[in-house]
Amino acid sequence: MRQWSFHNPVALHFGAGVFDRVKEQIGQRQWLLVTHKDAPFAPMRDRLLGHVHPPLAIADAIMPNPSLAMLQHVCGLLQARAEGIDVIVALGGGSVMDTAKFLAAGHCDFRSVACYLDGQVALGGRALPVIAVPTTAGTGSELTKWATIWDPEQGRKLSLNRDDLYAEAAFIDPELTASLPWPLTLASGLDALSHALESLWNRNANPITRSFAIAAAGDVLAALTRLQVNLDDQDARSMLASGAMKAGLAFSNTQTALAHNISYPITLDYGVAHGIACSFCLPEVMAAAIGADDACDTALGSIFGALSQAPQALRRRLTDLGIAGDPAAFGIGGEAWRGIVADAFDGPRGRNFIGARDRFPDRSVA
Ligand SMILES: [Fe+2]
Repeated sequence: MRQWSFHNPVALHFGAGVFDRVKEQIGQRQWLLVTHKDAPFAPMRDRLLGHVHPPLAIADAIMPNPSLAMLQHVCGLLQARAEGIDVIVALGGGSVMDTAKFLAAGHCDFRSVACYLDGQVALGGRALPVIAVPTTAGTGSELTKWATIWDPEQGRKLSLNRDDLYAEAAFIDPELTASLPWPLTLASGLDALSHALESLWNRNANPITRSFAIAAAGDVLAALTRLQVNLDDQDARSMLASGAMKAGLAFSNTQTALAHNISYPITLDYGVAHGIACSFCLPEVMAAAIGADDACDTALGSIFGALSQAPQALRRRLTDLGIAGDPAAFGIGGEAWRGIVADAFDGPRGRNFIGARDRFPDRSVA
């Protein structure tokens, strides 16, 4: 039997009301709050600020898909107070988490992390600790040690990947997602589904990641089906948060694979939300994965039924959720699509993929 290991050092707190325990985690430390400025975040922000000593600073000029330009702006605003920060609290979705990790890595100094990402210099010292409080169910960033940073000016997607960027604690409170509108619920939920499946058709998969991934995919699909008809179904909200957490634990150890590598240019060049960009072609990626590894096949069969029809079964689920399967629906022409897929197989995440290029279908699985 092949040797394997599983590692995740994040202290994980899950359930309705755990948000109120963030206070104990902060303790007497001087803290920086990273969050969104938008109105839906106001009640959560007020609830946190209402019972914890005031933060040293608040960084809330956070935009989706954090870019180097946005991070430079945020670091500039924090410069005067950066020295005294002991811990960062990230309250938000994936963009807030990734921004918090960038700030943590360089102690709010933009230049040091930007030069590190360019491969010019090492990053000295240990990152600031982060307390992660996700307000969406999907990104999994609260359980991983990496952050995605975008450089649209140069058409680059950059990755921070350091052991000291695991959060010291994550507080996953499904009640924080209670008022999330359907498009965001769907996109973040499908991101979690992608994390689960990408950790299955992955060279780094092991029995623990597989069991988390199978449970995650089941939770996410069931929860999205319920939330599509009733967005106020709090049990389904909790199931979705649980699924996203399990997917996070799975892919924190395997990384993602081909579908994520396909998604990056689609987000960068076509403006498609990450959760949609990495999920609309999952049936094609699955078709290319089936037959490559017995354990992966067994896992996919346990989620989607007979393997011969599993990609079609997933396509039907995605169609029912309103997700188009044809790249043309996102403005991607045939030649561009073939180029994106070919590049993705050679990309860093694509190399995690167990499937074969010649089994990737030419047309969308219908
Ligand atoms: Fe993702």
